Amino acid sequence: MSRDSNLTAAFWEGDEYVVLDQLELPERKTCLRLTTPAAVREAITAMRLRGAPLIGAAASAGAALAFRGAGEPVERAVFASVCASIGTARPTAVNLMAVLDEMLAYYDNEVAGCATAAEQFALMQRRSLEIHWRDADRNRRMARHGVDWLRRLLPDRRLRVLTHCNTGALATCGHGTALGVVRTLHEQGLLKMLWVDETRPYLQGARLTAFECAEEGIPHTVITDSTAPYLMAQGQVDVVLTGVDRMARNGDFANKIGTYGLAVAARHHGIPFLPVLPVESFDTALSDGARIVIEERSDDELLIFNGRRIAPAASSGLHLGFDVVPHGLITAVITEQGVIEGGIDEKHITDFLHRRGAADRA
Ligand code: MRU
Repeated sequence: MSRDSNLTAAFWEGDEYVVLDQLELPERKTCLRLTTPAAVREAITAMRLRGAPLIGAAASAGAALAFRGAGEPVERAVFASVCASIGTARPTAVNLMAVLDEMLAYYDNEVAGCATAAEQFALMQRRSLEIHWRDADRNRRMARHGVDWLRRLLPDRRLRVLTHCNTGALATCGHGTALGVVRTLHEQGLLKMLWVDETRPYLQGARLTAFECAEEGIPHTVITDSTAPYLMAQGQVDVVLTGVDRMARNGDFANKIGTYGLAVAARHHGIPFLPVLPVESFDTALSDGARIVIEERSDDELLIFNGRRIAPAASSGLHLGFDVVPHGLITAVITEQGVIEGGIDEKHITDFLHRRGAADRA
């Protein structure tokens, strides 16, 4: 079995939620100690923590903190409004609302009848912890399925993988989704090189993925985002692995801006293109990707680089955080429940999720 990363992006310590401030990486490892739902919401909005599964896990902590130090038991309406507020921290990753809905259901089933706020907090914190452990377990299973599948598809060689954004320990509660597969490839001696897209403008690739790789001795090279298609053309890329923020029923999915271009280039060059995600990241209420809400962030984040404005004062910018990859460009989908292959469409995905539901109930 693969070992977890030594990095922990967020964890409970006593009654505080400790978050490694990702805006400070790689220069400084600064920990924030969060004690209120509003502080967790701010950390998510400001990208102090980010990555779909980690945003979901942090939302569970924010929800639990609604009970910390409360004098009286917290009523459902109050808790629901806290969850609604955290739920608007960022719009694209489905994990945020999925976990908050889970916390609300848990309140209804287990917490509503508690006599004190202290009892409520203990139960909610425990649930939040379990959500963190569950994500770590999903990471290990995604990595195992991903590596097994790649070994069958591309046997007898060490792989040159290209990835985008950060999908590792800093985006999850374990060793990652796409980067978790890479980590396990490396542990098994199957990784030749990881090409790391810098991922403008937040530089999650250059600052965070490269940081994780450097800490663990994973062979990696940072490239500008626009270098990726050319490397594919040069025969330097064996497979593209990315994360997912929300996948619709037909397989269309949103991920960090630039993922769509990678998928188009990979298809043009006949390179396997594989999104890696926990099943939680499926939004089965959405038939297709056209209805995924794409986060638009301030154009300052694009036009100001390293504290300096890089475009004329009169210029405006468009900073979309995500794009949508049409399902037809996907080779296969790696999940913790197995690999969806043989054509990615609504029927395949519905059958897969149905079988998973049946397995969960067994
Ligand atoms: O804006 P970010 O940094 O939260 O975007 C992160 C990504 O796009 C990841 O690829 C995605 O959340 C999957 S993380 C395992």
